[in-house]
Amino acid sequence: MTDRQKITLTGAQETLLATLYGKALDTRARRPILGDREAVRVMRRIDYDFRRTGMTATTAAGVALRARQLDDWIVEFMTAQPESTVLHLACGLDTRPHRLARPATVRWVDVDYPEVVALRERLLPVPEGDYRQIGASVTGEEWLAQVPADRPVVAVFEGLSMYLREEEGRRLVQRITGRFPGGQLLFDVYGSMGIRMQKLVPAVRNSGSTLHWGVDDPRVIEGWHEGLVCLDALRSVDMPGLELLPAVGRAQMWVLARIPRLRDVGRILRYRF
Ligand SMILES: C[S@@+](CC[C@H](N)C(=O)[O-])C[C@H]1O[C@@H](n2cnc3c(N)ncnc32)[C@H](O)[C@@H]1O
Repeated sequence: MTDRQKITLTGAQETLLATLYGKALDTRARRPILGDREAVRVMRRIDYDFRRTGMTATTAAGVALRARQLDDWIVEFMTAQPESTVLHLACGLDTRPHRLARPATVRWVDVDYPEVVALRERLLPVPEGDYRQIGASVTGEEWLAQVPADRPVVAVFEGLSMYLREEEGRRLVQRITGRFPGGQLLFDVYGSMGIRMQKLVPAVRNSGSTLHWGVDDPRVIEGWHEGLVCLDALRSVDMPGLELLPAVGRAQMWVLARIPRLRDVGRILRYRF
């Protein structure tokens, strides 16, 4: 194929290929968890050595489970609040706005670095309905002003927090909770042990990126904004659907769940404000 898009991203941006590939592998699995066909289409249009991601059947299923959990929470939010905004930060090449049916009254905003948004524009169809993209670093102070603050928001950021420094994560949480009339924050975190073991993650090692922020106690974040309440803190080792992992992955999770210092290695968090 000659029209495939050559990828020159490095660092945290390059890691979007790992999650994309994970979703594509899951779709081709015997028992798909997410079944994201658009991810397969996008992956096929990319000229990149996906072996660099180090994705295996087990880690791909883990990526799919995390994405499915966040999808379920977003759908729950949109159903309860059909006049709302979905703020999808660090979207990478994730096809969530294509994957999820949403009420016509929901505004969807995808945000990532300008290079990544440019890639999305080349590789992904424009989703239907009220949709826009913003090319910016989420740590900047300017981009959020482009998102109307007239409705409740569900801000979802998958695979982002660990690339931020804690202070940047705190500012991000405070800018979102301070701007909108209410809503939810959905995001995954590494624990500090996960941050220490980061070089064991092939996508991190091979992209030359560095992880900084680990969260051991999700309640600490509640103190960052008045009325911010943690609704869920799901350990990766306890996620619904783990029985769908390949046998080797199920065994790994079983072991991790029984080692106190390792069982908090990753979590998916849901807050309301
Ligand atoms: C592991 S990928 C996850 C991508 C996507 N959420 C997914 O699950 O497929 C990490 C993403 O975070 C983005 N990212 C990291 N730091 C960022 C920042 N400061 N501002 C905007 N995006 C950022 C990268 O560009 C990349 O798309």
